[in-house]
Amino acid sequence: MNSEDIKEGEAKALCRTYARYPLAVSRGQGTKLITPEGRVYTDLLAGIAVCNLGHSHPELVEVICSQAAKLIHVSNLFYQEEQVSLARRLLGTSHLERVFFCNSGAEANEGAIKLARRYMREGRGQERFEIITLSGSFHGRTLATLTATGQDKIKTGFGPLPEGFITVPFADLAAMEAAISERTAAVLVEMIQGEGGVRPLPEDYARDLAALCAKRGVLLIVDEIQTGVGRTGKFWAHQHLGLTPDIVTVAKGLAGGLPMGAVMCSEEVSKGFPPGSHGTTFGGNALISAVADKVIEIIERDDLCGRAARMGDWLRERLEGLKARFPDRIVDVRVHGLMIGIELAQPGADVWKALLEQGFILNLTQDTVLRLLPPLVITQEELEAFVVALESILSAL
Ligand SMILES: Cc1ncc(COP(=O)(O)O)c(C=O)c1O
Repeated sequence: MNSEDIKEGEAKALCRTYARYPLAVSRGQGTKLITPEGRVYTDLLAGIAVCNLGHSHPELVEVICSQAAKLIHVSNLFYQEEQVSLARRLLGTSHLERVFFCNSGAEANEGAIKLARRYMREGRGQERFEIITLSGSFHGRTLATLTATGQDKIKTGFGPLPEGFITVPFADLAAMEAAISERTAAVLVEMIQGEGGVRPLPEDYARDLAALCAKRGVLLIVDEIQTGVGRTGKFWAHQHLGLTPDIVTVAKGLAGGLPMGAVMCSEEVSKGFPPGSHGTTFGGNALISAVADKVIEIIERDDLCGRAARMGDWLRERLEGLKARFPDRIVDVRVHGLMIGIELAQPGADVWKALLEQGFILNLTQDTVLRLLPPLVITQEELEAFVVALESILSAL
């Protein structure tokens, strides 16, 4: 099918949930995406922070083929070596001690919410069930996780929403202190709000929040679905501040493009998931676990966390230079490894479109923030070409 056939076919058959970019993609190779007509784009989005090793990484292709020929799926009724191997490797990146595998970010957060509530009841004998989240956050689109999400537009039309969720203003410790009560089970936060416009928690706030949770007997859940797996220059974003959350959720980059999520927790908190309490048919199947195991092996072997940090440092300097040159066009530059937000003074649809026309795929979030989440293998030359394109577009405005 050519691009027009694909667009016409979709218009008649798929639910209209997605506002698509005006582009069909039929092939991916490394940091490049290719349309059915053969136009090549530089991918600065990586499937929204998913394809951290780039597209069609030969070692991932190899493990997908060899594992598929051996065992794809058998259900969680059975023990599987691939899960054990992945669990060991994933926990090796973290202070946490146990993991539950699922299929997406929303499902990971849903699992974390269930885990926190049941841990409070069964592990501590306390009737604590409320989950506190921050304005501007994004935690998913299941009923519980959209209720947790601190953006009204995600909730429109889906009520009645589940009970037991409170959203407090972003980075306001007094508001958080006031919201925590004897009903609070957990506080759920992103270290850097992704969909919210690449907004980091201020460092003091994040440290104070962790201390407050510990003091008030509330679990700290960190949603690392977008920030995890090396994106910010360490394997986990909370590691930049030396925090030790009770629960961490991850998805996106975990299995290099195959759908996978995970809930990681301490030994103590894992009491909230006794046998039979939670489950999923596909979670951590042999194929996906083998691929995720390889993804983490490569990230560690090739020091892609260090690479993300170095690339980010270099890009920050270049973007700060652009900001100094165009102070009335660029309001802020937020670079955390390879999680990058360029906040424009005006809605950025035209800039985004011009960049696409010049061959760069990225994302526009919150109307004004150009968001880049490139594969961790992106080269300095590719980032430089992006900066040059952005510079020419801004000077022509
Ligand atoms: C921080 C965060 N949490 C949760 C989710 C939901 O993940 P998924 O789309 O895999 O359900 C996302 C997705 O963008 C996210 O960025």
